[in-house]
Amino acid sequence: MSEAAPQFDAAGFRKALGSFATGVTIITSRDGAGAPVGLTVNSFNSVSLSPPLVLWSLAETSNSLSIFRAATHWAVHVLATDQEALSGRFARRGEDKFAGVEVEAGVGDVPLLRGCSARFQCRTAFQYQGGDHVIFVGEVLAFDRAETAPLVFHAGRYAHATRREASDSAPRNAWLEGSFNEGFLGYLLGRGHLQFFARVRPLLAEEKLSDEEFYLLSTLTLKQRLENDEIEKGLQGISDESRGAALDALHSRGLVQVDATGACQLTPTGSACALRLISAAKAVESQIIDQLGAGEAAALKSLLNRLIHVLDPKVEALWSE
Ligand SMILES: Cc1cc2nc3c(=O)[nH]c(=O)nc-3n(C[C@H](O)[C@H](O)[C@H](O)COP(=O)(O)O)c2cc1C
Repeated sequence: MSEAAPQFDAAGFRKALGSFATGVTIITSRDGAGAPVGLTVNSFNSVSLSPPLVLWSLAETSNSLSIFRAATHWAVHVLATDQEALSGRFARRGEDKFAGVEVEAGVGDVPLLRGCSARFQCRTAFQYQGGDHVIFVGEVLAFDRAETAPLVFHAGRYAHATRREASDSAPRNAWLEGSFNEGFLGYLLGRGHLQFFARVRPLLAEEKLSDEEFYLLSTLTLKQRLENDEIEKGLQGISDESRGAALDALHSRGLVQVDATGACQLTPTGSACALRLISAAKAVESQIIDQLGAGEAAALKSLLNRLIHVLDPKVEALWSE
């Protein structure tokens, strides 16, 4: 190592390191008095297969430094995509990180968290000083894994891991150069919507509802009572022309009641019908998610939400109220 540290721009250096996408882990152990300790760590890495070794590094400023230095055992939890809140909690100082968190006892009585993509139970093998961090190398004594998508950290933010398909980078040749093809966003969205709704439509037919009536009915489940302009906002660009007719149809069937100001709410019959449709549509969704994989589905939802917001920033306001 050179004697004088190179004069880096610290923020730029951090940013460049952040280009390296990682998973997110929580490392746990117990202090001398037996209290559980843990923190969020993305410096985890594999070292050796035989013997099985892994490493991670801990900032010297960490409250848990002396505890991990003295610990004979610790566990690495590779977080699943739905454990972002847990990651946030274990990255905050001074917080009672384990409050309300269910743990199991691992090797050396190390607290083990549940619902992770993988867990490695380790015995401390080596410790090295590495600048302002201490590097811990552990021998893996036991591990387990689940088929859950991992949480990802990239450029200082949480991200999704999605598998790439060969077709992502090589769309099929179109007959006419520059014509619409499978890489065209409009085609993908339209085709996806039509195919999804082809599975939901038989349920609507059973309830004798048109697509527009279903959109309106499901919009009305967002809040106890929706003002006319809220309905307009929620369905803008979806069923502008046919909304009035859809509302009349739902009203005449006793599914929706409309007051003098034009505000709407579901009647008990309307709520029951909406609940039947929502649970049936959710069953269709879960079949699709089973085929797609939970991680891919979470990534798709997050991207579609962003797309909807880009196309119409007002939509989110209605859903978040
Ligand atoms: C995604 C992410 C990755 C992190 N990786 C590390 C790491 O590798 N090493 C480290 O010392 N701190 C890391 N931290 C910061 C610690 O989690 C944070 O400083 C924590 O409060 C330390 O807890 P303690 O002081 O109670 O030990 C990370 C935080 C986040 C959000």
